[in-house]
Amino acid sequence: MRRWMSLAIVFASVCGFVSSAVPAAAEGMFPASVASGDPKPDSVILWTRVVDPAMPDALVVEVATDMAFADVVFSQQVTVTADNGWCVKVRATGLQPYTTYYYRFVYGSGAVMETSRVGRTKTAPTPDMDVPVKFAVVYCQDYIGRYYNAFAKLLNDHDEDIDFVVHLGDIIYETTGDPSFQDPSSERRIDFSDTEGAIELGDPDDPYYAAASLSNYREIYETYRSDPVYQQVHERWPMIVTWDDHEFSNDAWGATATYFNGRSDEESAERKRNAERAFFEWVPTEVGVGSDGVIDINDGILWPNTSIHRDYPYGSNLHLVLTDSRTNRPDHLVPEDAYPGAIAADEPTLRAVLTDPVVDVIRGSLDPYVDMGVLGAQLPILRQTTASISAQAYMAENPSLGFTDAIRLAESQLTGNVSTTYINALYAAAAINPPFTPEIQAMLPRGVSFMFMGKTNMYSSSGSRNILFWDPFNVYAGVLWGTMGSAVQNLLGDQQTAWLAGVLTQSPATWKVLGNSIMMTPLLVDFTHPMIAPLLPPDFPDTFKTRMLLTADQWDGFPQNRWELFGLVDMAPGTVVISGDIHATFVTDHGEGLYEFTGPAISSGTFGDLVERAVLGHPILGQLPGIDTLLAMLPQLLQASTIDSPVTDSTILYDQTTNHGYMVMNVTPETLTATLQEIDQDEVFTNYYDDPATLDGLFTATMFTVEDGAIRPGP
Ligand SMILES: [Fe+2]
Repeated sequence: MRRWMSLAIVFASVCGFVSSAVPAAAEGMFPASVASGDPKPDSVILWTRVVDPAMPDALVVEVATDMAFADVVFSQQVTVTADNGWCVKVRATGLQPYTTYYYRFVYGSGAVMETSRVGRTKTAPTPDMDVPVKFAVVYCQDYIGRYYNAFAKLLNDHDEDIDFVVHLGDIIYETTGDPSFQDPSSERRIDFSDTEGAIELGDPDDPYYAAASLSNYREIYETYRSDPVYQQVHERWPMIVTWDDHEFSNDAWGATATYFNGRSDEESAERKRNAERAFFEWVPTEVGVGSDGVIDINDGILWPNTSIHRDYPYGSNLHLVLTDSRTNRPDHLVPEDAYPGAIAADEPTLRAVLTDPVVDVIRGSLDPYVDMGVLGAQLPILRQTTASISAQAYMAENPSLGFTDAIRLAESQLTGNVSTTYINALYAAAAINPPFTPEIQAMLPRGVSFMFMGKTNMYSSSGSRNILFWDPFNVYAGVLWGTMGSAVQNLLGDQQTAWLAGVLTQSPATWKVLGNSIMMTPLLVDFTHPMIAPLLPPDFPDTFKTRMLLTADQWDGFPQNRWELFGLVDMAPGTVVISGDIHATFVTDHGEGLYEFTGPAISSGTFGDLVERAVLGHPILGQLPGIDTLLAMLPQLLQASTIDSPVTDSTILYDQTTNHGYMVMNVTPETLTATLQEIDQDEVFTNYYDDPATLDGLFTATMFTVEDGAIRPGP
């Protein structure tokens, strides 16, 4: 009987594994096929999902050295439960280092026996093995309306020659059709069966949803993992995954989401735990596998006890280190509901932190402010009017606020120092004469207001998470750091930072590759730069003729903490950073021999597309003659802004903002080579899964090599 089973399995396996030209999604008991991950010299995590089995104990996993399973080296019975969404993870142990294995799951026996496809995986070399290592780096794979052509190209080109795949996060997107970046189609869409448990967003007459319940998150993974090409990626190589924000919620920090920009409290431990549980169920991480070697997702690994940072020594030449840059971070330094007129750093504080000579130089660019307590005592009507206009502004941006709550909110903001520039702007918008003349303002103390950092609305991501003025924001960040301590910017958290320092500085590997979901590269657009200023359209507003920081959700938003990280990395020569999240390609020289490679996203809306949608929708910038030309130059603007820059030591060597694709890294004792494979963003809406020849012609490859602490284009 056993022999008959094996023959049947071999037949099914070989058919399943070899037919790669026109992939079909797996079906039957194993509709999501199989996966492996987190390879070590003697073990690897194996994954499958069995749908609603009548015999939950009748599942066996087998690992063999051959595709025919003649030499089975590991076999274990596993139990499937609805508690884990019918997902199974098993740690296969007792394996040999740097060895290719084949694995499969067998359900039932006799007439009801069914086997999964055969997966292929590979264990890590031991730390003393001097072997070259080649791996792919991928991230951000939005499924909605988009095809995984980048994965198809990876499969076509690298079947035999990469050891594993690193995924830097956004392995799912939690929304069903966010119009700012998603384009649902009839073929590639998600409709939650539990809309009651989801968060309704967007136009109430045509809403889209964000996952919140466990059912929502599970449904997303099930849909993403139904893609036949993505299934093949998991079948062919072990994957090592960290997460970014969208595994939980866009631009999240800890258990807090940011959809409503401060209009409501968006902290939800339950939602974060649902997101984490689904991730641990569906992703072949060793996190979520118990000491007994099988799936075990318990309170000890879920929020607030989350801990997914981990490292993988891979022979003598590579040590892969993966951080979690979402779970432990504090809020963005400028909250989404920061009152634009509030003074974030007053003049005495600036003088104490920056010293008098520095403040005297920049004072003319600071914001004159008044103490509302003093003003209220002397000119109560002025204070009352300011509160009333502010309350109207609050109600306009948050219709759920009644007047009483709005006035109370406005009053609470008008207690300390407030920008006279902002008060004047409020009055002007209400068609009332601004109260503070230039003569009065000249006599006032000056500081940094949130308005001067780019915050113009009561509730907005603009001026908070994105589009900030670089210089005042960095002054404010420095003041916070100096006055409140490093905790305000502690992006990785104390425990993770200490772990990272230990791993990087103690690793004997030739190359330490630090996988980091968010980018360390500055996303700076310096409209004052001598290479850029002459290119601006004639009507370009003076307000924007400055340095812009495009996203504070990445390391740019935590500048002093980034310096600390650079300091830490400098102590570990041979460290190279790989990053994701940004949906664009960057090769960056951070100085001191530190280089960062950010590959293109697999499929998610590109950074160029995101910026274009935001700028064209902007009431002032969107109307400017010549803005199209400027937008088309985004990569050049970003690169030029870092050349001989007075505000950053990092230099962008190469960037593309409208491509998809992936990156392959090749590590030897002497060199680290990154190959960036890129395809135009417009192709993501066409399915090239069964047309490898056409797909191949659409890609371009760009190489950079690091050797002896220097970087060069090419091999
Ligand atoms: Fe993303």
